[in-house]
Amino acid sequence: MDDDQRSEAPPREFAEALSGGAAGERAGLLGLGRKDPRSLIAVRHFAGPSSFVGRLDGLRIAHLTDIHVGRVTPMAIQTAAVALTNEAKPDLVVITGDFVCHSQKYLDQLEELVRGFNAPVVGVMGNHDHWSGADEVRAALRRGGVEVLDNVHTCMTLRHQQLQVLGLDDAYTGHADRARALKGLRSDLPTLGLSHIAEEADRLWPHGVGLVLSGHTHAGQVTLARLHELAIGHLAGHKYVHGLYGTRQRDVAPGGAVYVGAGIGASVIPIRLGERGRREIAIFELGMAPGTLDEHHGEQAPLKGRAPGPELVARRNAVVQRQQAKRAQKRS
Ligand SMILES: [Fe+2]
Repeated sequence: MDDDQRSEAPPREFAEALSGGAAGERAGLLGLGRKDPRSLIAVRHFAGPSSFVGRLDGLRIAHLTDIHVGRVTPMAIQTAAVALTNEAKPDLVVITGDFVCHSQKYLDQLEELVRGFNAPVVGVMGNHDHWSGADEVRAALRRGGVEVLDNVHTCMTLRHQQLQVLGLDDAYTGHADRARALKGLRSDLPTLGLSHIAEEADRLWPHGVGLVLSGHTHAGQVTLARLHELAIGHLAGHKYVHGLYGTRQRDVAPGGAVYVGAGIGASVIPIRLGERGRREIAIFELGMAPGTLDEHHGEQAPLKGRAPGPELVARRNAVVQRQQAKRAQKRS
């Protein structure tokens, strides 16, 4: 069994959940089993920042993250997420990284899946995409019609309205380049930011990026093996774990809001315990004032957080380089 096969193999309990059996019943308690996959996904609605009011007229953004297409997350859940998103009739779909798990085995399924959205799709890379081969993941996404933003911003016209979308490449593995992404950013347009790592929002808000959408934490999902090490170690250092932080109010510190999505998939084991840990699609009504919708929750106080130092980020980046070298060696 090579590295790719080992990392994509589902845990025994989950494999049995797909086929029934005692372990399958236990897995059912974890939110799997024979449930309608749609019932496993929460669709939550939020208003946008007050600074967008009067500049946008009910522009609907669907935010998904960490879909992790692969063996751990059944395609029935992935397709249910696409169907629920389409039913919400968004003007734009944004996906904030971790499209895959640990390999390139499911890129065809990823391509087919993202092609199923009935709205334009914009995405940014996550750490798993870099570990698996960012170039290949990007290529699959582009074949599926997704615009991938790598430290750039773009101006989109949606229902005759202009929205600026800024996308950061993955900060966890040291690929985010804020200066490059912000260069030439227009201050006269409402701007939506996308970043796999939510803490990047702190340094985007001062540049007029009123709302940043992100992922990575799976809302605190506890996982095993490699992701477990990352999640537990990294989670302790996160200021933003799940949902809304910052402020959507104009001219109020800290000057912007961030939303951390709970994600759709998992890369190692699909445990989703608790209401906050449910798989999630977040719908944002840009142009609507905060307080006009009955929301799941409001802005929360950030945790203390602990930013990773440059050495740690460099070590994470070195992991990506090693994976890349290994793949090149296999090909040769
Ligand atoms: Fe993830």
